[in-house]
Amino acid sequence: MAWKRKDLLTIRELDPAEITLLIDTAASLREIGTREIKKVPTLRGKTIVNLFYEPSTRTRTSFEIAGKWLSADVVNFSASTSSIGKGETLLDTARNIEAMSPDVVVVRHSSSGAAELLARSLKCGVVNAGDGAHEHPTQALLDLLTIRERKGHLEGLHVAIVGDIAHSRVARSNIYGMRKLGMTVTVAGPPTLIPPHAQELGVKVSHRLEDAIRDVDVIMMLRLQQERMSAGLIPSLREYARYWGLTLDKLHASARSDVLIMHPGPVNRGIELSPEVADGPYSVILEQAANGVAVRMAVLFLLAGAMASQDGQAERGHGL
Ligand code: CP
Repeated sequence: MAWKRKDLLTIRELDPAEITLLIDTAASLREIGTREIKKVPTLRGKTIVNLFYEPSTRTRTSFEIAGKWLSADVVNFSASTSSIGKGETLLDTARNIEAMSPDVVVVRHSSSGAAELLARSLKCGVVNAGDGAHEHPTQALLDLLTIRERKGHLEGLHVAIVGDIAHSRVARSNIYGMRKLGMTVTVAGPPTLIPPHAQELGVKVSHRLEDAIRDVDVIMMLRLQQERMSAGLIPSLREYARYWGLTLDKLHASARSDVLIMHPGPVNRGIELSPEVADGPYSVILEQAANGVAVRMAVLFLLAGAMASQDGQAERGHGL
């Protein structure tokens, strides 16, 4: 199938074939990172703007590396040194950047819906790199790619997503993607960190870590998003770590021996994950980071390719 969309805003709006196309394309592009010269001409002459209004290590860096490996020109917009400090709005900022003819704008913003707002207003492609507590589609894609590489398939697997589900755009995008691809999802956390009506997303709900991680194929631990929390949702970090922190003892007592431990990062070591688990043999956290580059190459390649087709240009191959 061919990619038809101008933008990548959510996993919710994608059908299973589109999700699979993105993962398959990432899997085929991943090999570029193993070459001595990590550069192909695929996006030569294209311009990517990274518009990040929130901090990021993995997402911003991997979009930049992905664009550069595909020979695009990549511009990083830093909110802290921009005219945002003089009161310029998101839309005015984006319209002024679009006047400089980028092909794709990658946006991260603290407001849910910010990427969709830009996509409706801009002619260029827009990628959601995380909008508030709403969605983080490229994170879910790299998580699915990582699981598929390790387990060989996705359909039929059972994943426990543990921690601050209520504030997690990573959880939301993963739940949509996993359910669409035939996976079972259990969300687990204290009641204050599980969204009301979570079952309507097609997931099981658990309020006990040891129950949630028993017999699952994958455990995805989430960061406590204290920047998005109102006060009083957890008694204390110490108590949260005691009941919800994953340690080797809890893992050995309840989980399968072939379980994968995932975390989108950044990890609060000693809170949701003990260092022994984060760095141990079950952990695929650094594989997730590596796959971030492959997934973002796929997204930039497919979006820029779809726009070239809409412009009447002949579709080209990967140009590898
Ligand atoms: N997983 C993730 O989005 O990490 P960053 O905030 O570092 O981009």
